[in-house]
Amino acid sequence: MRCAVFNTKRYDREFLTAEAARAGGGHELVFLEPLLTAETARLADGFTAVCAFVNDRLDAPVLEALAAGGTQFIALRCAGFNNVDLPTAARLGIKLARVPAYSPYAVAEHTVGLMLALNRKLYKAYNRVREGNFALDGLLGFDMHGRTVGIVGTGKIGECTARILAGFGCKLLAFDPYENAALRELGAQYVSLDELLTAADIVTLHCPLSSATHHLINAERLKHMKTGAMLINTGRGALLDTPAVVAALKRGKLGALGIDVYEEEGDLFFVDHSGDTILDDVFSRLLTFPNVLVTGHQAFFTREALEAIARQTLANLDQFARGEKLTNEVKG
Ligand code: NAI
Repeated sequence: MRCAVFNTKRYDREFLTAEAARAGGGHELVFLEPLLTAETARLADGFTAVCAFVNDRLDAPVLEALAAGGTQFIALRCAGFNNVDLPTAARLGIKLARVPAYSPYAVAEHTVGLMLALNRKLYKAYNRVREGNFALDGLLGFDMHGRTVGIVGTGKIGECTARILAGFGCKLLAFDPYENAALRELGAQYVSLDELLTAADIVTLHCPLSSATHHLINAERLKHMKTGAMLINTGRGALLDTPAVVAALKRGKLGALGIDVYEEEGDLFFVDHSGDTILDDVFSRLLTFPNVLVTGHQAFFTREALEAIARQTLANLDQFARGEKLTNEVKG
């Protein structure tokens, strides 16, 4: 099957090509650099399948353009699908599949990396030592052992994060509409979201973005948090009302913020903008705080995760090509 792979970087080509060769080369993968948008969708004309990533825009105009060009299947090489207009895809008869889990360890380990880096100010220490400044003033952290961490969303990534933090000796609070027995076995206590926010020294978000979780952390909920608490978001940017978070940082309500995702990341992340002026004032303001650490949606970015993404994406293409039931189908 011919598949137009949008939004590709060198590492996408490397891992997908290796997996396609390993799997026997049953599909023709054509790698395209542009993001999938209404302007670029025509590049997929004549391709039965399209492969897209988290920041590709799969809204109604794009899906209509793809359907007009003959696309019947979209293989998402990511877990989240909040960027897809599912009712329109269903109306057009376009089927979708995703990679539901590739490496929860990758995201969980990055999440804990953000916590440790913020707590022990490793990003400051790195610069100081390189400048010959070995003073410790301003680098004071706290023991993770004994601290209360609130985990919002206890699916695959939330569970891995909980396992690591349990190893540190943290007290775990959890919030999820569906309880995960593994968390209870780790000693975590399920509580309401408000109770979690009130009691946690660190809050970390691992729930999907949906209409129910959009701006889950807003001005009102920030008020409930412990003064000086750390907030970590490696889920999706719009789980945070970012201007409200900026306001909480300004008044010292939030003690630290670590984010790998940002609500408006589509215009920023995955591209080298080092020679450009960043026009997003909210994002620029975030970068001015000494207690904010931002990474550019790299939590998933490990060798193991990229291998698993390539393997599952090719398997999803196989299933569609053979007319089999799609194990990882995304439906509205
Ligand atoms: P999962 O589906 O295993 O777990 C999600 C959990 O969130 C489920 O237990 C679900 O019940 C829970 N949930 C749903 N609505 C909720 C709500 N309102 N409040 C609290 N919990 C709620 O998903 P997984 O694999 O753990 O991924 C979680 C999220 O992490 C993904 O949806 C994605 O947005 C994000 N992600 C980020 C990556 C990155 O590179 N930064 C990479 C992969 C995923």
